[in-house]
Amino acid sequence: MKRLQYQRYGGPDVLALEDAETPTPARGQVLVGVRAAAANAMDWKIRNGEMRPMTGRKFPRGVGHDFAGVIERVGEGVTRLHAGDEVLGAAPLQQAGAFAEFVIADQNSVAHKPDALTFAQAATLPVVGLTAYQAVTQAGKLRPGQDIFINGCLGGVGRVGVQVATGVGATVTGSCRSGSEADAHQLGVGAVVAFDLDPEPLTGRFDVVFDTAGTLPYATARRMLKPGGRIIDIVPSVAKFVRSLLPGPYTAFMGRPDSKDLQHVADAAGRGEIATHISRTVSLTDAIPALIDLENAPTSSGGKLVITTD
Ligand SMILES: NC(=O)c1ccc[n+]([C@@H]2O[C@H](COP(=O)([O-])OP(=O)(O)OC[C@H]3O[C@@H](n4cnc5c(N)ncnc54)[C@H](OP(=O)(O)O)[C@@H]3O)[C@@H](O)[C@H]2O)c1
Repeated sequence: MKRLQYQRYGGPDVLALEDAETPTPARGQVLVGVRAAAANAMDWKIRNGEMRPMTGRKFPRGVGHDFAGVIERVGEGVTRLHAGDEVLGAAPLQQAGAFAEFVIADQNSVAHKPDALTFAQAATLPVVGLTAYQAVTQAGKLRPGQDIFINGCLGGVGRVGVQVATGVGATVTGSCRSGSEADAHQLGVGAVVAFDLDPEPLTGRFDVVFDTAGTLPYATARRMLKPGGRIIDIVPSVAKFVRSLLPGPYTAFMGRPDSKDLQHVADAAGRGEIATHISRTVSLTDAIPALIDLENAPTSSGGKLVITTD
């Protein structure tokens, strides 16, 4: 099969589209024929070696996590999924490899694709959808009638976060780049502020501060909370994980594989309650320059790059 891969951590020049052996699913895994895959910021953080403690030193490494496709084979112990099922999912952090003709995934990271979604639409959901859903509803425990602030509300995770929060029945305030306010309002964000927001008028107003960009100073986020409120930050660092262990409102959150949560997100998207924004679609053979463009773009506006295998 064809697979985008690299032999050492580094810049975009390490990427190559190469022939690779089609993998065999181990116990609890499935082999999926990829129809579409989607890029995430973590794809190049991993390739750069920024997540080395989690991603190890085994090469060649594949690229990409999000995919949608058709199950080719299931490993031992897999009963919920069958060959021929149309699915979406995420390849494991340690292995990646979704930018390929076939990918291996753990069954707990795979859900059935609703008929209403195209493979391209479905492929954009797993990482941003699962992260936003779990961060807002589980880590943030957002309830109907509450108030949430979403920093970076037009990013990939931010966009889904807004839709999950309005779906819960919460009121959303968000930050975005100057000039994109209308886009944010259209998505369901009430009040919109700039990235370099003045915390004064936002003091004590939110049950949840969801920092999808990881840029809000802790003191600012803390000041914006109502008593008992929570800060959820999805761009962790060692210092942030340490803070997260201390008593207080702050959580450095990592999305976790959960097929039930992923199915919930996929079904919501199938009903039209959650939508992602696809900015570009390319074939696997044209993926490298498109990934480089995305990585170097000054702004993403949450637009997803989709890579197809046909
Ligand atoms: N913890 C986890 O499990 C997890 C899961 C998924 C993603 N992540 C991480 O979460 C981050 C967001 O992911 P994503 O897929 O949503 O990325 P994305 O699509 O690039 O979105 C990032 C958003 O942040 C905005 N932004 C840029 N500078 C900002 C600032 N100074 N203040 C506020 N917002 C700012 C961007 O606006 P412009 O586009 O206008 O620049 C964009 O809307 C990435 O670092 C990613 O690695 C973590």
